[in-house]
Amino acid sequence: DVLSDSTARILSDHDGLEGPLLPILHALQAEFGFVPQAAVPLIAERLNISRAEVAGVISFYHDFRAAPAGRRVVRICRAEACQSMGANTLAAQMQDRLGIGWGETTPDGAVTLEAVYCLGLCACAPAVQIDGDLMGRADAPRIAAVLDGVTP
Ligand code: FES
Repeated sequence: DVLSDSTARILSDHDGLEGPLLPILHALQAEFGFVPQAAVPLIAERLNISRAEVAGVISFYHDFRAAPAGRRVVRICRAEACQSMGANTLAAQMQDRLGIGWGETTPDGAVTLEAVYCLGLCACAPAVQIDGDLMGRADAPRIAAVLDGVTP
């Protein structure tokens, strides 16, 4: 199938590379938009490491998704400057509104919520990124307005 073919190709492309796991995961995510669960055993076998190690790396790095993203992706900065300006409260409000936690997608596939660590907008904290677009001094109503009716 497409998944094993692409995974096999990506694995071959990285053959013999020093420290190939991260580049392989990045390549898979670039291709599929997430790192498919079914690729994990293939990677583990090729790199001669355990499936748990592969899964651990996927969950450790916030860049990797284990499932397809929703139609909109809201990333809330959780680094220091934003935390000191209420990012934790904002995150709690958004999790509450959407009914999901970090890295999760609403059941209707509308919105994925992700944590990010500094968007370079520290002077306008708290900062968020909605799809590609940055928003400074973010609050829940402004985010909801951008999402345009996706949130109540
Ligand atoms: Fe949030 Fe820098 S700490 S943008």
